[in-house]
Amino acid sequence: MAHTQVVIIGAGPSGLLLARLLAMAGVRTVVLERHSRAYVEARIRAGVLEPGTVALLNEAGAGARLQAEGLPHSGFQLAFEEQTHRIDLLALTGQQVTVYGQTEVQKDLGALHLAAGGIIHYEVEAITLRDLAGRQAGVEYLHNGVRERLDCDFVAGCDGAHGVSHQAIPAQAVQRFERVYPVGWLGVLANVPPVSHELVYANHHRGFALCSMRSQTRSRYYIQCAVGDRVDQWSDEQFWNELQCRLPAAMASALITGPSIEKSIAPLRSQVTEPMRYGRLFLVGDAAHIVPPTGAKGLNLAVSDVRFLWEALTGFYQHHDERLLNEYSSRALLRVWQATRFSWWFTALMHRFTDDPAEHRLQVAELLNLAHSRAASQAVAENYIGATF
Ligand code: APR
Ligand code: PHB
Repeated sequence: MAHTQVVIIGAGPSGLLLARLLAMAGVRTVVLERHSRAYVEARIRAGVLEPGTVALLNEAGAGARLQAEGLPHSGFQLAFEEQTHRIDLLALTGQQVTVYGQTEVQKDLGALHLAAGGIIHYEVEAITLRDLAGRQAGVEYLHNGVRERLDCDFVAGCDGAHGVSHQAIPAQAVQRFERVYPVGWLGVLANVPPVSHELVYANHHRGFALCSMRSQTRSRYYIQCAVGDRVDQWSDEQFWNELQCRLPAAMASALITGPSIEKSIAPLRSQVTEPMRYGRLFLVGDAAHIVPPTGAKGLNLAVSDVRFLWEALTGFYQHHDERLLNEYSSRALLRVWQATRFSWWFTALMHRFTDDPAEHRLQVAELLNLAHSRAASQAVAENYIGATF
């Protein structure tokens, strides 16, 4: 029977970063991914990296292109009622974030791990997990039409919200906390220069808008849409008109529009699974938790989980010490709940959820409080930068 030390399910950022760090520590892994390499490398996701995320990517040896091409952002803008308030991350926390697309992180990690001889099986089907609570865990799967079995010491469930890992846990062994928000985000990627050199989060009575970017020549814009909207209901022209409408006039008139190269709708929801471990299975990243995208925390939380699990597994293999494995879930969940709270607060501050006019007035009052209170702005900045991990 084939055996490896850690089977990693999913070759998203969590799976690849964990595989890379474990390989550097001499721990053997096999990564099993449902989709093709081309598919996973083309998925458009968020692009704001906390300092802790950049640090771990550097430790993994995946920092070269990130250092060269990532855009350091020392602040971001909150727009509301024809005004803007800048959250000066650098002045308020001494740190900044880096704008670098998750697609690029994904490509960098994949290339690095494969070049170092790492094993990633793409287009694997019908994965089942065996004996997670027993002495000998394992996986079975179909690869190139052949049924394979692999025994392992541990399974890292890095297969996102729709993967098999979290479903393999008996319902009574975990608690799931879920919240569904009554809106979605319609996102457009376009080869146009960004309207502002910093991200702009806009509160408007018609709904939220976000101006983000991937480079000096590629912009990523979002508008809040109805939960049931379909992409084909939104022409490029309708999208640009609605975005302009939700930005302060001076910014709207400076907006450069162009044909979309990607357009998609994402629902807003949050979910946390507790604990993030079941026997020999450890849940990592989106497989364990989903946050609404408003604070750009999804990828950063996935990376902090990876750090905690990497430390725990190297402690086990190098020093026969199980302490950090036993503490993995509680260490990770501390940060998960912090980020869940911030994402929920920021989402509630910026979106239109109801027709109640008091909702918007309360939001504007809170935004004005942020604009006038250094203490309130500092709390936002600290959360945006993320707790140290
Ligand atoms: N078998 C194998 N692989 C699977 C399976 C399965 N049954 N189900 C899903 N996968 C793969 C997906 O195809 C994907 O490549 O697992 C990977 C999970 O990757 P992500 O969804 O990117 O999750 P994660 O690596 O935890 O990264 C979290 O991604 O979704 C964003 O906002 C999120 O930025 C955050 C980050
Ligand atoms: C993005 O660039 O896609 C992005 C940026 C910030 C967010 C969410 C998404 O809060």
